[in-house]
Amino acid sequence: MRALAREWHVAGETIGLVPTMGALHAGHMSLVAVARAETSRVVVSIFVNPLQFGAGEDFERYPRPVESDLAMLREARVDAVYMPDQATLYPPDLSTRVQVGGPTETLEGVQRPGHFEGVATVVTKLFWATHADRAYFGQKDAQQVAVVKRLAADLDSGVEVRGCPTIRDADGLAVSSRNAYLSPAERAAALSLSGSLRTAAKMYAAGERDAGRLRARIQEVLAAEPLVRIDYADLVDPSTFRPPGTLAVLAVRIGKTRLIDNHDVSKPFLADRNS
Ligand code: PAF
Repeated sequence: MRALAREWHVAGETIGLVPTMGALHAGHMSLVAVARAETSRVVVSIFVNPLQFGAGEDFERYPRPVESDLAMLREARVDAVYMPDQATLYPPDLSTRVQVGGPTETLEGVQRPGHFEGVATVVTKLFWATHADRAYFGQKDAQQVAVVKRLAADLDSGVEVRGCPTIRDADGLAVSSRNAYLSPAERAAALSLSGSLRTAAKMYAAGERDAGRLRARIQEVLAAEPLVRIDYADLVDPSTFRPPGTLAVLAVRIGKTRLIDNHDVSKPFLADRNS
């Protein structure tokens, strides 16, 4: 991967990296499309990163449909798919971890100890392996975008990190590889995430500025759905991930599945803009 990336740079090309854990969906393919438009070579990495999963999380059962992933990437004419195995990225004597402060200290960082250290470590290795000029991440994982931006700046990586819009199904559900775990009843319950964000955006548009009232309404919409258990629902600043701010961030559990979503309530909700 490094040798190929060096050749491309010598030839004056720019490299766009789309890091993924596979189980590709429309969200990933939208990142590929933006990378394609902005860089001359597009690399997609596929690696289900054990370091970012906590004990009891879904590392083992995470979907790995490699053949259909590769078919989608072939169809999208990406220039390279980087699929390192675990022993390549994490040899037994691996002794280094990348730890980011700031935006890792709240919400996902608290709920999933070690998660962002795993993300930061693998992303740093992927940046170096691919010599990326730009890297593309979905805004659905808004806190991850903030963490990776912080990391790229703090380590003088020279990589420009781009957060790209969340892709939603027609009914508003943010697309995610983990949606595949949901039963029909759970998927119906999952619409309460986008529903609560839509409600908060409408309240904001109608003049509501009180974060406490916006948060309470979001929690009310989620709590009305019996299958949903709330991990957190808050309004934060999109760089620090602490209040005050207009980015509504949610994490819930539905059955065995944990889902996250977010929306800047000062802007119209995407599905409403489309309709
Ligand atoms: O967002 C993901 O799929 C993963 O966290 C990433 C960025 C590919 C790192 O493993």
